[in-house]
Amino acid sequence: MMEKRTCGKSGIEISPMGIGCWAYGGGDYWGPQAQSDVTAVAHAALDAGINFFDTAEGYNSGRSEEALAVALKGRRHEAVIGTKISTPDPLTIRERCEASLRRLQTDYVDIYMIHWPHDEFAIEESVAELTRLQEDGLIRAIGVSNFGVEQLTAALNTGASIAVNQLCYNLLSRAIELELLPLCQKHNVGILGYMPLLQGILTGQYTRVDEIPPVHARFRHFRDDRPNAAHGEEGAEEEVFEALEGIRKIAAAEQIPMSRLAIAWAIAKPGITCMLVGTRKVVELKENLHAVEYTPSADVIESLDIVTSPLLEKLGANPDYFTGGRMR
Ligand SMILES: NC(=O)c1ccc[n+]([C@@H]2O[C@H](COP(=O)([O-])OP(=O)(O)OC[C@H]3O[C@@H](n4cnc5c(N)ncnc54)[C@H](OP(=O)(O)O)[C@@H]3O)[C@@H](O)[C@H]2O)c1
Repeated sequence: MMEKRTCGKSGIEISPMGIGCWAYGGGDYWGPQAQSDVTAVAHAALDAGINFFDTAEGYNSGRSEEALAVALKGRRHEAVIGTKISTPDPLTIRERCEASLRRLQTDYVDIYMIHWPHDEFAIEESVAELTRLQEDGLIRAIGVSNFGVEQLTAALNTGASIAVNQLCYNLLSRAIELELLPLCQKHNVGILGYMPLLQGILTGQYTRVDEIPPVHARFRHFRDDRPNAAHGEEGAEEEVFEALEGIRKIAAAEQIPMSRLAIAWAIAKPGITCMLVGTRKVVELKENLHAVEYTPSADVIESLDIVTSPLLEKLGANPDYFTGGRMR
């Protein structure tokens, strides 16, 4: 039986690894994605005890939700579905939620999250509307995503129960450890960690930054003059590749792929409820399942923390690795 962890105070139990569905439905960012692969991954995941699936209305203009619905046909009751609203406008939250329900072919969302904070909508009003959806049974739990300390505090101060905060977390992106993770632990808010492989970079397949596809080199880790980047910072390219070299050595000593070590390290960290891995094919799922079975020793975790610390210091406590400007 695969271990299950509870999402905050919601009582919803999920596996320590979940399926990230951003690529599903196919689109510009991730390229084509066959429905047959989506369906095969979903079935193999459920068979193995992985029950959490993470999607969003914004992923491929709703096609990710649609593809997930097709994949889960007949097995929806075995799954815990998290989806996200892009624009938390209290006036349109309900109709957006209903549209997600139609695309997901279900009459409830398990965890409904605000994808990113938006300054133009008061958090209190968005959360009040989400609470009404919860009372009406459209959603089981309220979640947020990419909420910084101030924004999460505002959401918690409404008195609503916030089940999870979905945040970027991986060996090369550890900012949440400094302030947000302790805050979530203090208030019993689960953390759904995203991008455990930093979109493929933590598989160790790249040795130079110019080998990384531009869409994946837009993060604050890399220089702002790289295509697609919009963060205005100098990056930390040297520290990234030094950290990768250190991780590579530890993975070699453990005799496991770097991706497995990266996912397992994050799953082992206190405060992390579930790590969402963008899993596009059954062969990837099969490999990633080993990450749930493998528990790194305290020495391995410490060594990984040490080799990634200079990068953490350079990138600092800002947990928005995309633009650097949206999380407070
Ligand atoms: N809330 C947010 O703002 C937010 C932001 C980002 C992501 N997310 C969520 O988090 C999920 C995960 O993040 P992500 O998909 O962006 O990044 P990720 O999980 O770090 O990386 C996904 C990529 O890693 C590769 N991969 C997966 N397993 C592999 C394996 N065993 N060996 C080699 N390569 C492997 C796949 O590449 P190939 O393309 O080569 O198959 C896949 O596309 C998303 O799907 C989404 O649900 C949320």
